[in-house]
Amino acid sequence: MPTVTFTVNGTARSVDVRDPDQPLLYALRNSFGLTGPKFGCGLGQCGACTVLLDQTPLRSCVTPLSAVAGKSITTIEGLGTPDKPHPVQAAFIAEQAAQCGYCANGMVMTSAALLASNPKPSEAEIKDALAANLCRCGTHVRILRAVMRASG
Ligand code: FES
Repeated sequence: MPTVTFTVNGTARSVDVRDPDQPLLYALRNSFGLTGPKFGCGLGQCGACTVLLDQTPLRSCVTPLSAVAGKSITTIEGLGTPDKPHPVQAAFIAEQAAQCGYCANGMVMTSAALLASNPKPSEAEIKDALAANLCRCGTHVRILRAVMRASG
């Protein structure tokens, strides 16, 4: 069985898989127990499965596991800790930005990537960055407030 090795949240991990082209999301959730990234559409269209490849948001549901071999992935579990949350995580809690919470992983990860490249985004830039992350509950106003809070 082929083995795929890559870095997850700063630690080298290996997974034996029958199909190395299975979605990265499956390995994260089923092999490593990292259930922060969610399965939403499975088609790369909703953003619920977003992780970071270095600092770039990546839709793990449509990324073959083989494509991240030797690379570095960060999931929301590696973004912050309960004691030391990432500023975006802290702001999402402060603004109660989630309703059902299913989109929150993707919103947080995409926002963290935005702030890493643009620490003081405008409202329009935040909306643009999150335009392809879907929220069915309609908490966009609170999400926007949270990202603005995180940007200080
Ligand atoms: Fe990956 Fe929707 S579950 S984009």
